[in-house]
Amino acid sequence: MAAKWEPKNKNILITGAASGLGAAYAEALLNEGAKNIAVLDIDVKTGENFVSKLNETYNNKAIFIKCDVSKEEDIKNSFNNVLNKFKRIDLLINNAGIMSDTDSMWRLACDVNWEGLVSFTMKAVKHMRKDEGGDGGTIVNISSTAGICKLNFLPIYCGSKGAVLHFSQSLASAPFYDNTGIRVLTLCPGPTATKLMEGLDNRIVETTDMNQLQSLNGIPVQSVESAVAAMMKLLKDGDNGSIWLSANDKPALELTPQINKYLAELEKLTLP
Ligand SMILES: NC(=O)c1ccc[n+]([C@@H]2O[C@H](COP(=O)([O-])OP(=O)(O)OC[C@H]3O[C@@H](n4cnc5c(N)ncnc54)[C@H](O)[C@@H]3O)[C@@H](O)[C@H]2O)c1
Repeated sequence: MAAKWEPKNKNILITGAASGLGAAYAEALLNEGAKNIAVLDIDVKTGENFVSKLNETYNNKAIFIKCDVSKEEDIKNSFNNVLNKFKRIDLLINNAGIMSDTDSMWRLACDVNWEGLVSFTMKAVKHMRKDEGGDGGTIVNISSTAGICKLNFLPIYCGSKGAVLHFSQSLASAPFYDNTGIRVLTLCPGPTATKLMEGLDNRIVETTDMNQLQSLNGIPVQSVESAVAAMMKLLKDGDNGSIWLSANDKPALELTPQINKYLAELEKLTLP
């Protein structure tokens, strides 16, 4: 399937979009002609300020809706709210995520990074699927290089991002696209210059042997612009089920062949 996708005339919902990468994706999509963008975030003040600024430039195409993606009631209400306003959602970007493996935070982090993403995805599939009267669409799930690398200081974050990747690929498996007309895409950003990367020492798992973390001290962090460029590339060119890496300020690199090859090898071992 050769995907041809443009932001023009699309209604878009992005979670965790008041700041950081989500906000940068929202602005880039409006800049390329998106019809409407719903910015969902737990941070009301930052979200409202951001949306007012967007609306000055982009002619009232953005709305802010408070949504804590760890809360099912918030997800349900905000999804319905966006649908009432836009009538159709063409693109969902499940971007909200936190990095916190501490004893007091890891369960919440799993709800945000993983369960919230699943809930939004399943609601969007139901709404978009062509075989049940929808118009098809695109869902982008944000994983991370932490989903494909082992980090002993962030095992829970790595696990949640690995789950995002495998969930997305499993859901996208044939004949999903033929039945639904929905592309499910996964982006794995590497370390990128946002607040997420600040004060990491206070958010690592409490039993960490510090050697691996210290060995990564000072590794380069890519620009937000590079992650945005990768998002645009996969939105425009990504086939259903594809997985993309955005790291070290390099152009987006498709990882689907490597990951499919590795899974196919393992699957062989599971056959009788
Ligand atoms: N920055 C990186 O290095 C990097 C690398 C790989 C993956 N990612 C992923 O990209 C996504 C965005 O990260 P970022 O760097 O922009 O982070 P960030 O911390 O800069 O921004 C995250 C945004 O999510 C919002 N948020 C937090 N908890 C929320 C909740 N419960 N409900 C709704 N919104 C909530 C925050 O208010 C904020 O606006 C995350 O899923 C993250 O895991 C980031």
